[in-house]
Amino acid sequence: MNTPQRARERYAVIGNPIAHSKSPFIHARFAEQTGEPVEYDRLLAPVDAFVPHVRAFIEAGGRGLNVTVPFKLDAHALADALSPRAAAAGAVNTLRFDAAGIYGDNTDGFGLVRDIEVNLGVPLNGARVLLLGAGGAARGVILPMLERAPRRLTIVNRTAAKADALVAQFAQAARDAGCALTGGGAQAVETDAYDVIVNATAGSLDGALPACDDRAFGAHTLAYDMMYGAQPTIFMQHARTLGARAADGLGMLVEQAAESFHVWRGVRPDGAPVLAELRRQLAAADGA
Ligand code: ATR
Repeated sequence: MNTPQRARERYAVIGNPIAHSKSPFIHARFAEQTGEPVEYDRLLAPVDAFVPHVRAFIEAGGRGLNVTVPFKLDAHALADALSPRAAAAGAVNTLRFDAAGIYGDNTDGFGLVRDIEVNLGVPLNGARVLLLGAGGAARGVILPMLERAPRRLTIVNRTAAKADALVAQFAQAARDAGCALTGGGAQAVETDAYDVIVNATAGSLDGALPACDDRAFGAHTLAYDMMYGAQPTIFMQHARTLGARAADGLGMLVEQAAESFHVWRGVRPDGAPVLAELRRQLAAADGA
């Protein structure tokens, strides 16, 4: 006799474009792994119609959304309540709908930290960290990184004023964490090799390397690019040339999804096997 199936609850990723999102695959694996009754789709919204699409999804019984480009700021504006990390990021990648209303969270920084610390085995506590970039992607990861209490965080950006603004915004959080937070233009990079360098610029999209003193890269440095692809990014190739270890952002993608799943379901899936499967798929697609 079949056991009765629990009704599946609806989730989706909303963005534009959305066809190539890996989130439905990742969340289907998480649902299998945890036995949670989760159904997860893709939702394409016109760039000027995010809010009506979200409202219609809620009306249809939707319980939560992942939010991707270009709607993370719209999701931040729409939420009735924000987690501290979403408020600090100024952007929302996870919405949860319940009796209390629309809750906005941001799991990107948690995903980055977990990938670096757990999957790649590099502790951020006490580390010297260099963050390249000062756009939305950079801002979203600063608070979760500071919460690990690195010894130093240097934020460097092509447009120095944007790095300065982030240093000012996170000054108190850095003091609370006992972290020395500085930043500015490329001259703000220290010339002793960092423990971790995170590339949060959009440079890898168009094959551009952010300006950074070569001496920031050493044999013990983990150079992490938030982007990923079948081939190592130009930033990863550059870091390896300088003797550093390099990683891409595929693990961050999986771990931010695992944290969203936890926000929705209260259950934390294991990201590692799903990451391994995605890595195999990327390699196979590249060889095809
Ligand atoms: P995202 O949401 O991906 O962070 P964004 O908010 O537009 O996008 O920010 C893009 C970031 O990549 C910025 O830090 C940008 O530097 P500027 O603030 O000087 O524009 C950085 N960036 C983009 N292209 C770059 C390049 N070719 N070299 C260095 N930095 C680059």
